[in-house]
Amino acid sequence: MKIIVTGGAGFIGGNFVYYQLKNHPQDEVICIDKLTYAGNLETLEEAMKNPNFTFIRADIVDREAIYAIFEQHHPDVVVNFAAESHVDRSITDPAIFLQTNILGTQVMMDACRKYGITRYHQVSTDEVYGDLPLDRPDLFFTETTPLHTSSPYSASKASADLLVQAYHRTFGLPVTISRCSNNYGPYHFPEKLIPLMIANALADKELPVYGSGENVRDWLYVEDHCSAIDLIIRKGRVGEVYNIGGHNERTNLQVVETILRELGKPESLIKHVKDRAGHDMRYAIDPTKIHNELGWLPSTSFDVGIKKTIDWYLSNKPWWEKIISGEYEQYYEKMYANR
Ligand code: NAD
Ligand code: DAU
Repeated sequence: MKIIVTGGAGFIGGNFVYYQLKNHPQDEVICIDKLTYAGNLETLEEAMKNPNFTFIRADIVDREAIYAIFEQHHPDVVVNFAAESHVDRSITDPAIFLQTNILGTQVMMDACRKYGITRYHQVSTDEVYGDLPLDRPDLFFTETTPLHTSSPYSASKASADLLVQAYHRTFGLPVTISRCSNNYGPYHFPEKLIPLMIANALADKELPVYGSGENVRDWLYVEDHCSAIDLIIRKGRVGEVYNIGGHNERTNLQVVETILRELGKPESLIKHVKDRAGHDMRYAIDPTKIHNELGWLPSTSFDVGIKKTIDWYLSNKPWWEKIISGEYEQYYEKMYANR
Protein backbone atom coordinates (compact mmCIF):
# COMPACT_ATOMS: atom_id res chain seq x y z
CA MET A 1 0.00 0.00 0.00
CA LYS A 2 1.17 3.53 -0.77
CA ILE A 3 0.06 6.14 1.75
CA ILE A 4 0.31 9.89 1.32
CA VAL A 5 0.61 11.60 4.69
CA THR A 6 0.19 15.37 4.51
CA GLY A 7 1.59 17.47 7.36
CA GLY A 8 4.06 14.71 8.27
CA ALA A 9 6.72 17.18 9.41
CA GLY A 10 4.35 18.36 12.16
CA PHE A 11 3.51 16.87 15.54
CA ILE A 12 0.87 14.19 14.91
CA GLY A 13 1.73 13.61 11.24
CA GLY A 14 5.36 12.97 12.21
CA ASN A 15 4.34 10.47 14.88
CA PHE A 16 2.01 8.82 12.35
CA VAL A 17 4.85 8.44 9.81
CA TYR A 18 6.88 6.55 12.43
CA TYR A 19 3.84 4.50 13.44
CA GLN A 20 3.29 3.38 9.84
CA LEU A 21 6.95 2.61 9.10
CA LYS A 22 7.18 0.56 12.30
CA ASN A 23 3.88 -1.31 12.14
CA HIS A 24 3.51 -1.73 8.36
CA PRO A 25 7.09 -2.03 7.07
CA GLN A 26 5.81 -3.35 3.74
CA ASP A 27 3.94 -0.09 3.01
CA GLU A 28 5.34 3.01 1.32
CA VAL A 29 4.87 6.38 3.00
CA ILE A 30 5.02 9.62 1.03
CA CYS A 31 4.98 12.74 3.16
CA ILE A 32 3.82 16.05 1.69
CA ASP A 33 4.55 19.10 3.85
CA LYS A 34 4.86 22.82 3.16
CA LEU A 35 7.26 23.22 6.11
CA THR A 36 5.49 26.16 7.69
CA TYR A 37 6.74 27.45 11.05
CA ALA A 38 5.23 24.25 12.55
CA GLY A 39 6.90 21.82 10.15
CA ASN A 40 10.34 20.52 11.08
CA LEU A 41 12.45 18.23 8.94
CA GLU A 42 14.48 17.24 12.00
CA THR A 43 11.38 15.37 13.18
CA LEU A 44 11.70 13.14 10.10
CA GLU A 45 15.47 12.61 10.28
CA GLU A 46 15.18 8.89 11.16
CA ALA A 47 12.37 8.30 8.64
CA MET A 48 14.54 9.75 5.86
CA LYS A 49 16.89 6.75 6.28
CA ASN A 50 14.05 4.31 5.44
CA PRO A 51 13.85 3.38 1.71
CA ASN A 52 10.05 3.15 2.01
CA PHE A 53 9.79 6.82 2.98
CA THR A 54 9.75 9.82 0.64
CA PHE A 55 9.51 13.48 1.64
CA ILE A 56 8.13 16.08 -0.76
CA ARG A 57 7.95 19.76 0.10
CA ALA A 58 4.66 21.10 -1.27
CA ASP A 59 1.66 23.21 -0.29
CA ILE A 60 -1.63 21.27 -0.27
CA VAL A 61 -3.33 24.38 -1.66
CA ASP A 62 -1.07 24.22 -4.76
CA ARG A 63 -3.23 22.16 -7.14
CA GLU A 64 -0.59 21.78 -9.84
CA ALA A 65 2.04 20.52 -7.40
CA ILE A 66 -0.38 18.10 -5.73
CA TYR A 67 -1.63 16.68 -9.04
CA ALA A 68 2.00 16.18 -10.16
CA ILE A 69 2.70 14.19 -6.98
CA PHE A 70 -0.35 11.97 -7.54
CA GLU A 71 0.61 11.52 -11.20
CA GLN A 72 4.05 10.29 -10.17
CA HIS A 73 3.24 8.24 -7.07
CA HIS A 74 -0.35 6.95 -7.51
CA PRO A 75 -1.18 6.58 -3.79
CA ASP A 76 -3.79 4.12 -2.50
CA VAL A 77 -4.61 6.04 0.67
CA VAL A 78 -4.36 9.70 1.67
CA VAL A 79 -4.31 10.83 5.31
CA ASN A 80 -4.68 14.59 5.56
CA PHE A 81 -3.04 15.99 8.69
CA ALA A 82 -1.77 19.21 7.07
CA ALA A 83 -3.38 22.20 8.73
CA GLU A 84 -2.85 25.41 10.58
CA SER A 85 -3.49 24.00 14.04
CA HIS A 86 -3.08 26.67 16.73
CA VAL A 87 -6.26 28.32 18.03
CA ASP A 88 -4.44 31.45 19.30
CA ARG A 89 -2.88 32.09 15.87
CA SER A 90 -6.32 31.71 14.25
CA ILE A 91 -7.58 34.52 16.48
CA THR A 92 -4.81 36.92 15.40
CA ASP A 93 -4.74 35.88 11.71
CA PRO A 94 -7.62 33.72 10.45
CA ALA A 95 -7.02 33.91 6.66
CA ILE A 96 -4.34 31.23 6.33
CA PHE A 97 -6.55 28.85 8.35
CA LEU A 98 -9.29 29.09 5.74
CA GLN A 99 -6.82 28.61 2.90
CA THR A 100 -4.96 25.59 4.19
CA ASN A 101 -7.65 23.89 6.23
CA ILE A 102 -10.55 24.29 3.79
CA LEU A 103 -9.11 24.91 0.32
CA GLY A 104 -6.20 22.54 0.93
CA THR A 105 -8.68 19.80 1.84
CA GLN A 106 -10.58 20.48 -1.38
CA VAL A 107 -7.41 20.24 -3.51
CA MET A 108 -6.40 16.96 -1.85
CA MET A 109 -9.86 15.48 -2.46
CA ASP A 110 -9.93 16.71 -6.07
CA ALA A 111 -6.61 14.95 -6.64
CA CYS A 112 -8.10 11.79 -5.08
CA ARG A 113 -11.08 11.97 -7.44
CA LYS A 114 -8.91 12.62 -10.50
CA TYR A 115 -6.35 9.86 -9.88
CA GLY A 116 -8.45 7.39 -7.86
CA ILE A 117 -7.71 6.18 -4.33
CA THR A 118 -9.18 3.55 -2.03
CA ARG A 119 -9.46 5.88 0.96
CA TYR A 120 -9.23 9.59 1.78
CA HIS A 121 -8.97 10.15 5.53
CA GLN A 122 -9.56 13.58 7.06
CA VAL A 123 -7.89 14.22 10.42
CA SER A 124 -10.36 16.44 12.23
CA THR A 125 -10.77 17.56 15.81
CA ASP A 126 -13.23 17.48 18.73
CA GLU A 127 -13.22 21.29 18.55
CA VAL A 128 -15.79 21.10 15.73
CA TYR A 129 -18.39 20.25 18.42
CA GLY A 130 -17.77 23.47 20.37
CA ASP A 131 -17.59 23.02 24.13
CA LEU A 132 -19.42 21.46 27.06
CA PRO A 133 -20.36 23.14 30.37
CA LEU A 134 -18.25 22.40 33.44
CA ASP A 135 -21.31 21.61 35.57
CA ARG A 136 -22.45 18.72 33.31
CA PRO A 137 -19.76 16.04 33.67
CA ASP A 138 -22.31 13.53 32.33
CA LEU A 139 -22.14 15.08 28.82
CA PHE A 140 -19.71 13.90 26.12
CA PHE A 141 -19.24 14.56 22.40
CA THR A 142 -20.60 11.74 20.23
CA GLU A 143 -20.41 11.54 16.43
CA THR A 144 -23.96 12.93 16.23
CA THR A 145 -23.32 15.99 18.42
CA PRO A 146 -24.11 19.04 16.23
CA LEU A 147 -21.17 21.05 14.89
CA HIS A 148 -20.96 24.31 16.84
CA THR A 149 -17.61 26.05 16.49
CA SER A 150 -15.96 28.76 18.57
CA SER A 151 -12.70 29.87 16.89
CA PRO A 152 -11.67 30.55 13.29
CA TYR A 153 -9.54 27.39 13.63
CA SER A 154 -12.45 25.16 14.63
CA ALA A 155 -14.73 26.80 12.06
CA SER A 156 -12.19 26.01 9.33
CA LYS A 157 -11.92 22.38 10.49
CA ALA A 158 -15.71 22.01 10.61
CA SER A 159 -16.00 23.51 7.11
CA ALA A 160 -13.49 20.96 5.85
CA ASP A 161 -15.47 18.13 7.49
CA LEU A 162 -18.65 19.25 5.73
CA LEU A 163 -16.80 19.38 2.42
CA VAL A 164 -15.44 15.87 2.97
CA GLN A 165 -18.96 14.57 3.64
CA ALA A 166 -20.23 16.41 0.55
CA TYR A 167 -17.52 14.81 -1.63
CA HIS A 168 -18.60 11.41 -0.32
CA ARG A 169 -22.29 11.92 -0.97
CA THR A 170 -22.02 13.80 -4.27
CA PHE A 171 -19.01 12.17 -5.91
CA GLY A 172 -18.85 8.87 -4.03
CA LEU A 173 -15.32 9.59 -2.75
CA PRO A 174 -14.43 6.84 -0.22
CA VAL A 175 -13.80 9.00 2.83
CA THR A 176 -13.53 8.66 6.59
CA ILE A 177 -13.20 11.38 9.22
CA SER A 178 -11.73 11.16 12.72
CA ARG A 179 -12.31 13.74 15.45
CA CYS A 180 -9.76 13.48 18.20
CA SER A 181 -9.27 15.22 21.53
CA ASN A 182 -6.06 17.04 22.61
CA ASN A 183 -2.88 15.13 21.82
CA TYR A 184 0.43 15.29 23.67
CA GLY A 185 3.77 13.52 23.35
CA PRO A 186 7.05 13.74 21.37
CA TYR A 187 7.56 16.43 18.68
CA HIS A 188 4.73 18.65 20.01
CA PHE A 189 5.41 22.22 18.90
CA PRO A 190 6.21 24.39 21.96
CA GLU A 191 3.45 26.94 21.31
CA LYS A 192 0.93 24.41 22.70
CA LEU A 193 0.09 24.08 26.41
CA ILE A 194 2.09 21.03 27.53
CA PRO A 195 5.42 21.61 25.72
CA LEU A 196 5.23 25.35 26.42
CA MET A 197 4.82 24.73 30.13
CA ILE A 198 7.64 22.15 30.18
CA ALA A 199 10.02 24.54 28.37
CA ASN A 200 9.10 27.51 30.58
CA ALA A 201 9.35 25.51 33.80
CA LEU A 202 12.79 24.22 32.84
CA ALA A 203 13.90 27.82 32.25
CA ASP A 204 12.26 28.98 35.54
CA LYS A 205 10.04 31.31 33.47
CA GLU A 206 6.42 32.17 34.31
CA LEU A 207 3.78 29.64 33.22
CA PRO A 208 0.98 31.67 31.57
CA VAL A 209 -2.37 30.06 32.42
CA TYR A 210 -5.27 31.62 30.52
CA GLY A 211 -8.07 32.90 32.78
CA SER A 212 -8.94 30.73 35.77
CA GLY A 213 -7.25 27.61 34.36
CA GLU A 214 -10.43 25.62 35.02
CA ASN A 215 -10.92 24.78 31.34
CA VAL A 216 -10.90 21.04 30.76
CA ARG A 217 -9.18 19.14 27.94
CA ASP A 218 -9.35 15.38 27.26
CA TRP A 219 -5.69 14.41 26.76
CA LEU A 220 -4.64 11.54 24.50
CA TYR A 221 -1.08 10.27 24.07
CA VAL A 222 -0.22 10.83 20.41
CA GLU A 223 0.64 7.19 19.67
CA ASP A 224 -2.92 6.22 20.64
CA HIS A 225 -4.26 8.72 18.10
CA CYS A 226 -1.98 7.16 15.46
CA SER A 227 -3.19 3.63 16.23
CA ALA A 228 -6.81 4.79 15.95
CA ILE A 229 -6.26 6.41 12.54
CA ASP A 230 -4.38 3.34 11.36
CA LEU A 231 -7.38 1.16 12.26
CA ILE A 232 -9.83 3.53 10.60
CA ILE A 233 -7.99 3.66 7.26
CA ARG A 234 -7.68 -0.14 7.18
CA LYS A 235 -10.96 -1.30 8.76
CA GLY A 236 -13.22 1.74 9.21
CA ARG A 237 -16.47 2.04 7.29
CA VAL A 238 -16.47 4.43 4.33
CA GLY A 239 -18.49 7.59 4.88
CA GLU A 240 -18.24 7.34 8.68
CA VAL A 241 -17.04 9.72 11.38
CA TYR A 242 -15.11 8.26 14.35
CA ASN A 243 -14.48 10.13 17.61
CA ILE A 244 -11.14 9.40 19.30
CA GLY A 245 -10.43 10.06 22.97
CA GLY A 246 -9.43 8.23 26.11
CA HIS A 247 -11.36 9.75 29.04
CA ASN A 248 -8.32 11.58 30.41
CA GLU A 249 -9.98 14.85 31.37
CA ARG A 250 -7.85 17.35 33.28
CA THR A 251 -8.19 21.06 34.01
CA ASN A 252 -5.36 23.19 32.61
CA LEU A 253 -4.28 23.95 36.17
CA GLN A 254 -4.06 20.23 36.98
CA VAL A 255 -1.88 19.69 33.90
CA VAL A 256 0.43 22.57 34.78
CA GLU A 257 0.69 21.50 38.44
CA THR A 258 1.57 17.95 37.35
CA ILE A 259 4.37 19.25 35.11
CA LEU A 260 5.76 21.42 37.92
CA ARG A 261 5.65 18.51 40.35
CA GLU A 262 7.41 16.15 37.92
CA LEU A 263 10.13 18.73 37.29
CA GLY A 264 10.50 19.69 40.95
CA LYS A 265 9.61 23.33 40.25
CA PRO A 266 7.50 25.63 42.50
CA GLU A 267 3.82 26.47 41.82
CA SER A 268 4.75 30.14 42.28
CA LEU A 269 5.83 30.03 38.61
CA ILE A 270 2.14 29.90 37.61
CA LYS A 271 0.81 33.25 36.38
CA HIS A 272 -2.85 33.70 35.50
CA VAL A 273 -3.03 35.84 32.35
CA LYS A 274 -5.80 37.33 30.20
CA ASP A 275 -8.14 34.65 28.89
CA ARG A 276 -8.24 33.43 25.27
CA ALA A 277 -11.12 35.08 23.33
CA GLY A 278 -14.03 32.64 22.93
CA HIS A 279 -12.18 30.11 25.11
CA ASP A 280 -13.87 26.68 25.05
CA MET A 281 -14.66 25.43 28.57
CA ARG A 282 -14.59 21.65 28.31
CA TYR A 283 -13.91 19.00 25.68
CA ALA A 284 -14.80 15.37 26.40
CA ILE A 285 -15.00 12.56 23.85
CA ASP A 286 -17.23 9.51 23.92
CA PRO A 287 -15.13 6.89 22.05
CA THR A 288 -17.77 4.11 22.21
CA LYS A 289 -18.18 3.86 18.42
CA ILE A 290 -14.52 3.27 17.57
CA HIS A 291 -14.23 0.87 20.48
CA ASN A 292 -17.29 -1.18 19.51
CA GLU A 293 -16.69 -1.18 15.74
CA LEU A 294 -12.91 -1.38 15.51
CA GLY A 295 -11.86 -2.60 18.96
CA TRP A 296 -9.71 0.49 19.56
CA LEU A 297 -8.67 1.37 23.09
CA PRO A 298 -5.97 3.80 24.19
CA SER A 299 -2.95 2.15 25.77
CA THR A 300 -1.38 5.09 27.66
CA SER A 301 -3.00 6.76 30.67
CA PHE A 302 -2.34 10.45 31.31
CA ASP A 303 -0.21 9.72 34.37
CA VAL A 304 2.12 7.49 32.34
CA GLY A 305 1.98 9.61 29.17
CA ILE A 306 2.89 12.88 30.84
CA LYS A 307 5.98 11.28 32.42
CA LYS A 308 7.03 9.83 29.05
CA THR A 309 6.48 13.23 27.44
CA ILE A 310 8.51 15.12 30.03
CA ASP A 311 11.31 12.55 29.68
CA TRP A 312 11.25 13.03 25.90
CA TYR A 313 11.60 16.82 26.23
CA LEU A 314 14.44 16.36 28.72
CA SER A 315 16.27 13.98 26.37
CA ASN A 316 15.62 15.96 23.18
CA LYS A 317 16.52 19.51 24.13
CA PRO A 318 18.26 20.33 20.82
CA TRP A 319 14.98 19.62 18.95
CA TRP A 320 12.91 22.18 20.87
CA GLU A 321 15.58 24.66 22.00
CA LYS A 322 16.24 25.47 18.34
CA ILE A 323 12.50 26.12 17.82
CA ILE A 324 12.07 28.45 20.78
CA SER A 325 14.93 30.66 19.66
CA GLY A 326 14.63 32.94 16.62
CA GLU A 327 11.21 33.54 15.03
CA TYR A 328 9.42 31.90 17.96
CA GLU A 329 10.74 34.58 20.36
CA GLN A 330 8.84 37.25 18.40
CA TYR A 331 5.68 35.12 18.48
CA TYR A 332 6.02 34.66 22.25
CA GLU A 333 6.56 38.37 22.79
CA LYS A 334 3.49 39.26 20.68
CA MET A 335 1.22 36.70 22.37
CA TYR A 336 2.33 36.97 25.98
CA ALA A 337 4.15 40.28 26.63
CA ASN A 338 1.15 42.40 27.65
CA ARG A 339 -1.23 39.66 28.61
P1 NAD B 1 1.11 20.90 13.59
O1 NAD B 1 0.83 22.36 13.52
O2 NAD B 1 2.10 20.39 14.57
O3 NAD B 1 1.58 20.38 12.15
C1 NAD B 1 0.96 20.77 10.96
C2 NAD B 1 1.85 20.37 9.80
O4 NAD B 1 1.17 20.71 8.59
C3 NAD B 1 3.20 21.09 9.77
O5 NAD B 1 4.24 20.20 9.48
C4 NAD B 1 3.03 22.11 8.66
O6 NAD B 1 4.25 22.45 8.01
C5 NAD B 1 2.08 21.38 7.73
N1 NAD B 1 1.30 22.30 6.89
C6 NAD B 1 0.63 23.42 7.27
N2 NAD B 1 0.07 24.01 6.20
C7 NAD B 1 0.37 23.23 5.13
C8 NAD B 1 0.04 23.33 3.74
N3 NAD B 1 -0.69 24.34 3.25
N4 NAD B 1 0.50 22.36 2.92
C9 NAD B 1 1.25 21.33 3.40
N5 NAD B 1 1.60 21.22 4.69
C10 NAD B 1 1.15 22.15 5.55
O7 NAD B 1 -0.31 20.22 13.79
P2 NAD B 1 -0.71 18.91 14.62
O8 NAD B 1 -0.97 19.29 16.02
O9 NAD B 1 0.22 17.82 14.30
O10 NAD B 1 -2.14 18.60 13.96
C11 NAD B 1 -2.24 17.76 12.81
C12 NAD B 1 -3.70 17.61 12.43
O11 NAD B 1 -4.40 17.01 13.51
C13 NAD B 1 -4.41 18.92 12.14
O12 NAD B 1 -5.28 18.70 11.06
C14 NAD B 1 -5.20 19.21 13.41
O13 NAD B 1 -6.35 19.95 13.12
C15 NAD B 1 -5.53 17.81 13.87
N6 NAD B 1 -5.71 17.63 15.31
C16 NAD B 1 -4.75 18.04 16.20
C17 NAD B 1 -4.91 17.78 17.55
C18 NAD B 1 -3.87 18.21 18.56
O14 NAD B 1 -4.09 18.07 19.76
N7 NAD B 1 -2.71 18.70 18.15
C19 NAD B 1 -6.05 17.09 18.00
C20 NAD B 1 -7.02 16.70 17.07
C21 NAD B 1 -6.83 16.95 15.73
O1 DAU C 1 -8.97 19.40 21.03
C1 DAU C 1 -8.14 19.25 19.92
C2 DAU C 1 -7.36 20.52 19.68
O2 DAU C 1 -6.39 20.62 20.72
C3 DAU C 1 -6.70 20.54 18.32
O3 DAU C 1 -7.69 20.54 17.33
C4 DAU C 1 -5.79 21.77 18.17
O4 DAU C 1 -5.10 21.71 16.94
C5 DAU C 1 -4.80 21.77 19.31
O5 DAU C 1 -3.97 22.91 19.24
C6 DAU C 1 -5.52 21.72 20.65
O6 DAU C 1 -6.26 22.95 20.88
P1 DAU C 1 -6.30 23.66 22.32
O7 DAU C 1 -6.63 25.07 22.12
O8 DAU C 1 -7.10 22.87 23.28
O9 DAU C 1 -4.74 23.46 22.73
P2 DAU C 1 -3.68 24.45 23.39
O10 DAU C 1 -2.47 23.62 23.72
O11 DAU C 1 -3.46 25.68 22.60
O12 DAU C 1 -4.40 24.86 24.75
C7 DAU C 1 -4.83 23.89 25.68
C8 DAU C 1 -5.52 24.62 26.82
O13 DAU C 1 -4.52 25.38 27.54
C9 DAU C 1 -6.55 25.63 26.37
O14 DAU C 1 -7.61 25.65 27.31
C10 DAU C 1 -5.81 26.97 26.41
C11 DAU C 1 -4.82 26.77 27.55
N1 DAU C 1 -3.53 27.50 27.43
C12 DAU C 1 -2.83 27.35 26.27
C13 DAU C 1 -1.62 28.00 26.12
C14 DAU C 1 -0.82 27.86 24.85
C15 DAU C 1 -3.07 28.26 28.49
O15 DAU C 1 -3.70 28.37 29.53
N2 DAU C 1 -1.86 28.92 28.33
C16 DAU C 1 -1.13 28.82 27.19
O16 DAU C 1 -0.04 29.46 27.11
